[in-house]
Amino acid sequence: MSEAYVVDKNLGVKMEVGAGDLPRVNADGDPVVELTQEQKYLFDARGWLLVPGVLGDDEIAAMRDFALRVQNDPESLPEHERSQVAGPLEKLTDHPVVVGFLNEFLAFPHLSSPTCYGFRMEGSNLRNPAATPEREGQFGPHNGSGLFRFAYDSHHYQSIPGKSFSGLTRVVWELAPVKYHQGGTLLATGSHKAAYTAPESIQDPHSAVWDTYECPAGSVLFFTEALAHSTCPWTNVENERVGIFNLYNSVGSRWSAWNPPEKLIDQMPPMRQTLFRGTHCANNVPGFHYGGQNHVDRQPT
Ligand SMILES: [Fe+2]
Repeated sequence: MSEAYVVDKNLGVKMEVGAGDLPRVNADGDPVVELTQEQKYLFDARGWLLVPGVLGDDEIAAMRDFALRVQNDPESLPEHERSQVAGPLEKLTDHPVVVGFLNEFLAFPHLSSPTCYGFRMEGSNLRNPAATPEREGQFGPHNGSGLFRFAYDSHHYQSIPGKSFSGLTRVVWELAPVKYHQGGTLLATGSHKAAYTAPESIQDPHSAVWDTYECPAGSVLFFTEALAHSTCPWTNVENERVGIFNLYNSVGSRWSAWNPPEKLIDQMPPMRQTLFRGTHCANNVPGFHYGGQNHVDRQPT
């Protein structure tokens, strides 16, 4: 647990995070995979982190097939399963690697419990040539300098020595191989903390501003939406992109109006349902009892 002095809600006191404040297993009972010190350092310094080869071959095939079926043959599925968080893709929403990452960089411990996530999920879509032809081919840099932005629209990043907070946070599951600079996402390393306006050269996808990655199918990329980034035009002729773009935010903030179909949420385990709970802070932990010492003051403020 971080020893950093994170200021709590009332009167500047230090936030105390107890052992039971954040979930240690996900909705399927799988142990959360915590970030290593190196992974925390890399994400914080760069604004992005790739974890290669997370999924097994069988899982990848089932997920890729389902994602493409939702896109290409939705009529073959019940209406509530025409979603990129349905079927085998549901497990990606709170994959142990994702929960471990978000526990560190997004979760609000006071709005979390062993059975409730301290963050929300607010987007999921497929990046595939058939799904998004206009986006896969186009270079379009956006965002950046989140450290210096107010939290108006969640595209912010905050740091104190020993702890950082990424507001709107993107989690990309690459379900097909990505070749270096032949597709995927371009990332302007460190630009979430950029104090200078981006140079003209950021408009050139081959400029020194940009970094990118290569990875096998089944890898996951995390980046803060406070970072400048862009689609990397897909020129890989050996396979097409099958990228699941999941989006997370703090419990009290929302960027999009997206929600999964209600009937799909109803069929999820209760803990996974907490990913999609209402966007508010007061009284938003299931089972919370007034007066709990580790929870924020529930009085209107
Ligand atoms: Fe973006």
